Amino acid sequence: MNEGLGGSPAADVLRLDGVGVRRAGRWILAEIDWHVRAGERWIVVGPNGAGKSTLLAVASTYLWPTSGSVSVLGARIGAVDARELRRRVGYVSAALGDQIDERLTASEVVLSARDAALAPWWSTYGTEDRRRAAAALDRMGCAGLEDRTFGSLSSGERQRVQIARTLMAEPELLLLDEPAAGLDLGAREALVGRLAALARKASPAGIVLVTHHLEEIPPGFGHAAVLAGGRIAAAGLIGPTLSSDVLSKAYGVPLSVTRMGERFAAIGRDDR
Ligand SMILES: Nc1ncnc2c1ncn2[C@@H]1O[C@H](COP(=O)(O)OP(=O)(O)OP(=O)(O)O)[C@@H](O)[C@H]1O
Ligand SMILES: [Mg+2]
Repeated sequence: MNEGLGGSPAADVLRLDGVGVRRAGRWILAEIDWHVRAGERWIVVGPNGAGKSTLLAVASTYLWPTSGSVSVLGARIGAVDARELRRRVGYVSAALGDQIDERLTASEVVLSARDAALAPWWSTYGTEDRRRAAAALDRMGCAGLEDRTFGSLSSGERQRVQIARTLMAEPELLLLDEPAAGLDLGAREALVGRLAALARKASPAGIVLVTHHLEEIPPGFGHAAVLAGGRIAAAGLIGPTLSSDVLSKAYGVPLSVTRMGERFAAIGRDDR
């Protein structure tokens, strides 16, 4: 769908071809052809139930598609050990957050990422690991939360600790499913700033961010995909993709998209 000029498949950090996911007799994702190339930062938007989280679960290797093929960081799913691949993929979602033991401290949640595990019991961590965990927490504005249990954190703090956890593992592909959900305005803007800073770096090579609100799109994200009814309604460069027309059609309500520099906003349009 977004073939670059003379690009080779090796330059794709994520490659979905003809991907479909069938659940309860229904295709919740269908005919997904989507390629994310190294260096690209993608936004995924679409109405509730459009299939955004399912798409990210497939990309993270946690969910096998019913049809089609998926390559992550050049490795075709099924041909390689998914556990090995998962170490190189950072994935933040509410569902994954729910699996984190609430008794772990924020530091332990982050440290356990070193082994792509959700609990730290089976590992021993050295000074360097602890230093990196503290740096990852600090990078997400979580300094001071290190010794708090995950269960005692607010939803916004949990999101930030989860992102810090993925950064600890230095992922080559970073998948964020609604990371700004539950954040207050100040925290959201701080997160947008941090994600913009991350987007400017060479690593992670690929970043995909699912969001409901165009206001949450960090500067530096140059591509977007719009999902509707399990299909890609539009995908490509962010400007033309996140147009008022495309989004009005996808959401089924008249919308007006405004762009202010590298930031976006959308509000309903009164067409009566
Ligand atoms: N295991 C399942 N069995 C049946 N239906 C499912 C299953 N998982 C997801 N679905 C359905 O698939 C559709 C897509 O779900 P998904 O969570 O990917 O949507 P989403 O775009 O992330 O929505 P939201 O914006 O609400 O987070 C929804 O209608 C959901 O109810
Ligand atoms: Mg979702």
